[in-house]
Amino acid sequence: MKLLFACSEASPFAKTGGLGDVMGALPHALSKIRGNEVCVILPFYHSIKYNPAFPAEYVCHFSMPLAWRNQYVGIFKAVVPGTGKKQQRDLTYYFVDNEYYFGRDGYGYEDDGERFAFFSKAVLESLQYIDFMPDIIHCNDWQTAFLPLFLKAFFLQNRRYSHLKTVLTIHNVEYQGKADPSFLPEVLGVDAYWRGAATHDGLVNALKCGIVLSDRLTTVSETYAYELHHDYFAHGLAGIIKENAYKMTGIVNGIDTASYDPATDPCLPLPFHAEDLHGKKENKRILQEQTGLWVTDEMPLVIMISRLVPHKGLDLVEAVGDALAQCGIQLAVLGTGYRKYEDVFRTLAYRYPGRVSAHICFDETLSRLLYGAADFLLMPSKSEPCGLSQLIAMRYGTIPIVRETGGLVDTVPPINPETGEGRGITFKLFNAHDMLSAVERAAEIYRNRPLFEAIQKSNMRLGTDWKKSAEKYMEVYNSL
Ligand code: GLC
Repeated sequence: MKLLFACSEASPFAKTGGLGDVMGALPHALSKIRGNEVCVILPFYHSIKYNPAFPAEYVCHFSMPLAWRNQYVGIFKAVVPGTGKKQQRDLTYYFVDNEYYFGRDGYGYEDDGERFAFFSKAVLESLQYIDFMPDIIHCNDWQTAFLPLFLKAFFLQNRRYSHLKTVLTIHNVEYQGKADPSFLPEVLGVDAYWRGAATHDGLVNALKCGIVLSDRLTTVSETYAYELHHDYFAHGLAGIIKENAYKMTGIVNGIDTASYDPATDPCLPLPFHAEDLHGKKENKRILQEQTGLWVTDEMPLVIMISRLVPHKGLDLVEAVGDALAQCGIQLAVLGTGYRKYEDVFRTLAYRYPGRVSAHICFDETLSRLLYGAADFLLMPSKSEPCGLSQLIAMRYGTIPIVRETGGLVDTVPPINPETGEGRGITFKLFNAHDMLSAVERAAEIYRNRPLFEAIQKSNMRLGTDWKKSAEKYMEVYNSL
């Protein structure tokens, strides 16, 4: 099977969140399956184009209509060596170049809709020029959700494209890519026939359009696939998702276990593994020294590594911040986002020196040190399509404390202290005191050393790599 992943970010080239991690790992896992040829295509952002660490080779260029515009499209490529010990396979990444749209990084611009409409169309157009014609284009989130529309409106009648099928993965339904109705003729350049598919509640809606027009849909956990049927989670798209549920599958994310391996991670001062956790204790001491926390093993070290945005459940932390800082734990936070939440953590760190430390930044090395040093990871998400931090934490022997939602339900069954079964401490309601009591239960488990270490070790041995999920994606592709 020939697969092309179209996406707005892919690690190591560009990453703002979990999507970048998934696009950096799932294509590799699929390329290891016999008979597959996999490529990834993403925008040639400024930070990729001018980064000497990412040398890319020019492939071709052409011009392409986008409504009344005629735009330059350059295609570049880079070959990335395979990951993992076995069956290493190189992967080709293609980049769509256009200074006007991508001579800047990431998202958050007025013209994001136009930028990614351009990108999605350019992906299809480029197939006439590059040496790769996929069987399936796998789109991800709203940024590439207009691709099935472009395919149907402009390309499918061309015999070279007539076999092409599309899959759309929803990584987070909250971000939909909405625009004024004039976007249809003005940017997409399609006629009124497509208005019904492309609009929702009076606005052009990229994600809705992709949900309706793609051949198959997936989302990143089974529980989230179910939750999306409900208004509380679906951000206005519950009805549309229910209508299209017949083509939807929930497939939980994995992690790149070769990269996230505490035995070999170069960011850890001391490596460790499930048979010997001595290095982890040392890492905790080093981290405490580095971050100004009291150097002690008496208190459990709880970390939060997160984008500081509302759906991550930070309102709960805000509501019981003082009680949390005083309940006999240490708290270390790493992340950036809404000013309001950044300030919650800055204030806690100021008021509770030795007990709370806040790192309001994005720092991959520090994040790995935190995973490798901590006892617990707190993830009180309001909604969580899958979540990757809890998977990384478990791999590093850091036990998750999570709210029971989305992928957190599927990946963190609650610990039963009587039998030792389960992987983490969980709470059900989106309620600050329930979260607090979950943290207190975690501290109790910490004091029960044999139980605590048994859970650490069994979590570290879990198979959270991409193998099983890649096979489930194959079932989706094969059905097409
Ligand atoms: C989004 C979701 C997160 C998921 C990630 C990768 O960032 O919020 O839950 O793990 O996408 O699929």
